[in-house]
Amino acid sequence: MHLMNRSTDPNTAEMVSKASSNTHWQQRDLRHIWHPCTQMQDHETIPLLPIKKGQGVWLEDFEGKRYLDAVSSWWVNIFGHANPHIAQAIAEQAQQLEHVIFAGCSHEPVITLTERLVQLAPPGLERVFFADNGSAAVEVALKLSYHYWYNQGQPKRHRYLTISNGYHGETLGALAVGDLGIYRDIYSPLLLNPLVVPAPDCTGLPAEQWEAASRAAFLHMEQALAENHQDICAVILEPLLQCAGGMRMYHPVYLKLLREACDRYGVLLIADEIASGFGRTGTLFACEQADITPDIMCLSKGITGGFLPLAAVLLKENLYQAFYEDYNKGRSFLHSHSYTGNPIACAAALATLDLFEATPVLDHNQIKGQRMEDQVQALRQHPHVGDIRRLGMVMAVELMADPQKDTPYPWQERRGLKAYQHAIKRGALLRPLGNVLYCMPPYVIDNDEIDFMTQVLMESVEVATGVAL
Ligand SMILES: Cc1ncc(COP(=O)(O)O)c(C=O)c1O
Repeated sequence: MHLMNRSTDPNTAEMVSKASSNTHWQQRDLRHIWHPCTQMQDHETIPLLPIKKGQGVWLEDFEGKRYLDAVSSWWVNIFGHANPHIAQAIAEQAQQLEHVIFAGCSHEPVITLTERLVQLAPPGLERVFFADNGSAAVEVALKLSYHYWYNQGQPKRHRYLTISNGYHGETLGALAVGDLGIYRDIYSPLLLNPLVVPAPDCTGLPAEQWEAASRAAFLHMEQALAENHQDICAVILEPLLQCAGGMRMYHPVYLKLLREACDRYGVLLIADEIASGFGRTGTLFACEQADITPDIMCLSKGITGGFLPLAAVLLKENLYQAFYEDYNKGRSFLHSHSYTGNPIACAAALATLDLFEATPVLDHNQIKGQRMEDQVQALRQHPHVGDIRRLGMVMAVELMADPQKDTPYPWQERRGLKAYQHAIKRGALLRPLGNVLYCMPPYVIDNDEIDFMTQVLMESVEVATGVAL
């Protein structure tokens, strides 16, 4: 057989050159793919970003242009793209055992991972139920907390209580206990009807006022519990940081008061640490800052360093015991997902925990987080910046039409999109939440990269508002 020389075959050469253009991949993608959380018509004017490879905090397109991933690819990446330690662990596990049914079978990575998670988690969370993405973990937590009371002979406890502006995912149960109209409203006829109290939102307040504001907001929660506790199976909330709700933050005292009130009223507490977990808020888990143990804690996203989908729902022993019975009593939790406890995902999670152990990541992040904040201080003088806030490795800048009068920009003006487009031109992937621009980079970001990212953020504020500093 005659093999043509690749470089002299005109067809091959044309294919190679096409494949190295972004347009080629954009066209092929848009022919069939429906992207998540996207109005696809936008891509008639806003180019899709085809990514060929990643390394550290950088993503690279097919034409060799690099973009700093300031959003950790939907808040999942913590130790950088293509991290060699995690990549190797995945490769090795794939050759040993890629997957096995997790009902009736088990395997080494999941057992070791469970032991390590239980050691790291707030004390008392000693049982782990696995799922394969954040929303699925929330579904597990919701079903389990209702079922727990059912098994205790209290099936009337079927309502959930939550705080406004929360987000817990897109499946129907998770969507129901969230409070973001943009995702939820259209489906409301299909959804459970939780009780919602005003969130302890500290937006616009100086740090020294956060505690008092969070305490004051707790009065709503206390009242809702006092009036409805006999119907409520669980309170669910994002501890300290409401990510999808615009990176809103509050003081740990709210969690302390909530833990105490849940105990007093006999209601379960579900902490959704899917986004806040694994160091984002400065501690490994946000609940640590309030020194509390929730009854149920949902983990996902950063658990595998951002490589693979995996979720873990950590529970107190008494919940587990409420299901532990003779099969014929019908008290079992018959919930499953095909990829539950996937061995390769567990190997990625173990490698991620190794990286936390290998260096004082959280200590380094304190310095990095402070640097992010220091770099954007000039924005405090900007007439359309309503707030700059930070918790750990998350920093948000909120744009407003008139901060003095608390007037937001109309959402139809899509100011955040202008910021996004400017940042892309400059080589950074900032993906604002409405009018909230934020930086939530992988922890491997270095000082020069922080300075570049924050510089682009400041320029993006100017472009989005049309007002220079
Ligand atoms: C706090 C929180 N809970 C749940 C979810 C849902 O996770 P997933 O997107 O993996 O379903 C998210 C996703 O952003 C989240 O931020």
